[in-house]
Amino acid sequence: MAPEMLEVPVCRRLERRVRDLVEADQQSVAHRMDHLNRVARNAKAILEFYPEADAEILYLAVLLHDVDQPFNDKANHVARSAALAERLLTEIAYPPARIARVLDVIREHSTEHIGTVQPSTIEAKILFDADKLDGLGAFGILRVFALSRQVGRSLPDTIRWYRSKIAVATPNVQTPEGKAMMENRLPLVEAFLSDLESELEAG
Ligand SMILES: [Fe+2]
Ligand SMILES: [Fe+2]
Repeated sequence: MAPEMLEVPVCRRLERRVRDLVEADQQSVAHRMDHLNRVARNAKAILEFYPEADAEILYLAVLLHDVDQPFNDKANHVARSAALAERLLTEIAYPPARIARVLDVIREHSTEHIGTVQPSTIEAKILFDADKLDGLGAFGILRVFALSRQVGRSLPDTIRWYRSKIAVATPNVQTPEGKAMMENRLPLVEAFLSDLESELEAG
């Protein structure tokens, strides 16, 4: 578990449980413990600019936002993860009012629903950006192609899917810090996808 999350006692209490869940065979390979750790690192970088944000709520949402994301049911992963997060937090007697706040952050993290569900709190804005950032850069590329292999998606379909995800994520970035980090990571992805397309066309 990333040091940022280890500093939050309630995250530490959930560590083993979450690790077992996200490392299970049916979980998307792009949404395992390493993803949660990188999102925590991104979140920390943004959180430094927002001292008013509740770090415990944020890191709990980081830890639990993809806790139930089977590789073949991405579309429902937000509702599934929120439901499981509620169960896990209730089991450890986390205060109900704070559980509700964590669940709101989880429900607002996905580009799948960004048309209708916008991040409404600073914690939700930070998670949104921290999560999208892990879809870019070298790890973003690795994750997309690893998941495509797991779901059996073709290379051309993967390129189209990846471009469509980027097209939704970038204009919806929530913080100036997230935007700057995104702009740093985008050129590598653009160059990689363009090269891959050229090489595919050349056969
Ligand atoms: Fe997610
Ligand atoms: Fe995520």
